Amino acid sequence: MTAPKLALSDNAVTDITADVVVIGTVQQDGGGFTLAPGGEAVDAVFDGSLVAVLTSLGATGKAEETVKVPTLGKLKAGVVLAVGLGKADPTPEQVRRAAGASARALTGVKRAHSFLSLVDLQAAVEGTVLGGYTFTEYKSDAGDGPVGRVDFSAASNKDNKATLKAATAIAEAVATARDLINTPPNDLYPASFAERAAKLGEAAGLTVEVLDEKALRKGGYGGILGVGSGSSRLPRLVRLAYKGPKASKKVALVGKGITFDTGGISIKPAANMDEMTSDMSGAAAVVAAVVLAAKLKFPLEVIATVPIAENMPSGTSYRPGDVLTMYGGKTVEVLNTDAEGRLILADAIVRAGEDNPDYLIETATLTGAQVVALGKRTAGVMGSDDFRDRVAGIGQAVGENAWAMPLPDELRSDLDSRVADLANVTGHRWGGMLAAGQFLKEFVPDGLEWAHIDVAGPAYNSGGPFGYTTRGGTGVPVRTIAATLADIAENG
Ligand code: BES
Ligand code: MN
Ligand code: ZN
Repeated sequence: MTAPKLALSDNAVTDITADVVVIGTVQQDGGGFTLAPGGEAVDAVFDGSLVAVLTSLGATGKAEETVKVPTLGKLKAGVVLAVGLGKADPTPEQVRRAAGASARALTGVKRAHSFLSLVDLQAAVEGTVLGGYTFTEYKSDAGDGPVGRVDFSAASNKDNKATLKAATAIAEAVATARDLINTPPNDLYPASFAERAAKLGEAAGLTVEVLDEKALRKGGYGGILGVGSGSSRLPRLVRLAYKGPKASKKVALVGKGITFDTGGISIKPAANMDEMTSDMSGAAAVVAAVVLAAKLKFPLEVIATVPIAENMPSGTSYRPGDVLTMYGGKTVEVLNTDAEGRLILADAIVRAGEDNPDYLIETATLTGAQVVALGKRTAGVMGSDDFRDRVAGIGQAVGENAWAMPLPDELRSDLDSRVADLANVTGHRWGGMLAAGQFLKEFVPDGLEWAHIDVAGPAYNSGGPFGYTTRGGTGVPVRTIAATLADIAENG
């Protein structure tokens, strides 16, 4: 993506050099709307008529509505863009969404000045960058592109500069994940994904290790090799390690990296199979998150372990009935080759456990059952009780909706296998998201605080854009992981 140039400015309205000035509107309880901070100065230029003018153009303050008003020479900027924040008092998420909607309305504009930062600077920056995200790598004509530069109303002091820098880094990490997800599977396959991850890691000063198929065989990574065996593009395991100054805690990150999921021999139906290009969203998120941890210099040790494979049907594929010996020695009977994510994750989780981390955060587009249970915009979080609730709460707080889910014991016995230590699926369709969680739990070291975030729905937006979420890869749950790392850095 090409990110806009971002800056701080506390210029008075009449001194603003920009093409468009962005102000917020807020719905009133009894109907009507008011102007968010910054709006009163613009209103003064309009001789107090701005609310009336906006109302006549249909403005209501409703979340994400955008209404443009020409300034007719009253300002240097030719246009005022009013964006709805929704109900009072706006939360950071409301600001982020309004900023996202404003960025989408600013497509092709050279320079804008946003007053949304007077409500919340960090949210305004994140929403503006993410809402303006485009992926045009494969377009002959890239079109107008996002707004070229945005100045945010804020004093250019130390605190605000730090906030701008951090918010930009967070938004760029999300954009990095989106770029990886949006790269089509003929170009993003295990070796090329591993290479891009390694490059990102090296640029951030991380310790990088890539295991190719030979090294995987030598190491005994039966899950990754089994799933990857059907593709001519052989699997990889990437490890990216960051050690911060005065690292207090060690956090392991694991993310599912299936570069394309056909289902394998248990092949998927044709409808919407193209969306399985996003089956590496968990991997993209943890790669982006460990790079971000280094950029923000978190006082932590963060190690991402990223298993990458392509799930294809062929004469060399693994098959239903196969028994795989996983990294660490547990055996798994494969009853459905489409339940492949848990197999590559099991190897990676065991490997990550060898680092003796204090916490494990693992994320995956793991089950269709997640989407059935919670819909397209709310992730399911499973794991050890306290950490699960902590991560789900942080997800809600940063606007990446997440909900704690249980791991019922009876689903574990439903994974019992006739021949092996366990099977990769139960014999029924009930609680599919939780059964997958139970499978993963088998591979998590006893007593380790862990969270499994199933983002099958939230990782990919197959509908139209909304708020700061564009079409295609969303980058969820990068911000949840980033905020959890920040929380661990601060509170242990
Ligand atoms: N990658 C899919 C899960 C998925 C479904 C992600 C929809 C995003 C949107 C996963 O590998 C899968 O196929 N899971 C199976 C598991 C089943 C065979 C137990 C599923 O959910 O159907
Ligand atoms: Mn699958
Ligand atoms: Zn999958």
